[in-house]
Amino acid sequence: MRNRKDLITSKLAALQYYQLSLPIPKAARGSFDAAAATRGKAVFMGKGKCESCHMPPTFTESGWNLHTGDEICIDDFQSSRSPTFRYRTTPLRGMAAKLKGGFYHDGRYATLGAVVDHYDKCMSLNLTGSQKSDLVQYLKSL
Ligand code: HEC
Repeated sequence: MRNRKDLITSKLAALQYYQLSLPIPKAARGSFDAAAATRGKAVFMGKGKCESCHMPPTFTESGWNLHTGDEICIDDFQSSRSPTFRYRTTPLRGMAAKLKGGFYHDGRYATLGAVVDHYDKCMSLNLTGSQKSDLVQYLKSL
């Protein structure tokens, strides 16, 4: 094999600055219920324990943000094929751009409501119906 010069490493820092400079897509006014989103934020930070992995401002963990399937009650079909054997905590900003649905790495959850139901069961959160729908409004606002 020919010896190739590394043309990439020196450009990574600039590329990361560029990525961090991209504006986060904002939720359109009227696309979520603001009062419910405020209540949902309290659920996200409190009873729902979402913040333990999705930490503001990026809504992922800074540093090691990888989890086994077991930790989030899913199979390891894809993670076992990755070099880390784990799933990455998805940053939750700009959810407005994702509302066509298909959440988690393989799009297994069609709606945010289905994602919230999944966590409710997985983590025995015992969220009420209105806490779940408030949480969905908060996610839509991010
Ligand atoms: C143990 C850490 C952990 C906790 C606690 C957690 N999450 Fe997650 N979350 C993850 C991981 C890891 C993924 C990526 C899963 C995948 O891609 O299959 C994820 C993915 C998501 C997604 C999908 C995003 C997308 O674009 O596909 C949503 C929405 C979400 N979480 C919301 C929540 C909410 C709401 C809570 C609280 C009820 C919560 N999470 C609690 C680790 C966590």
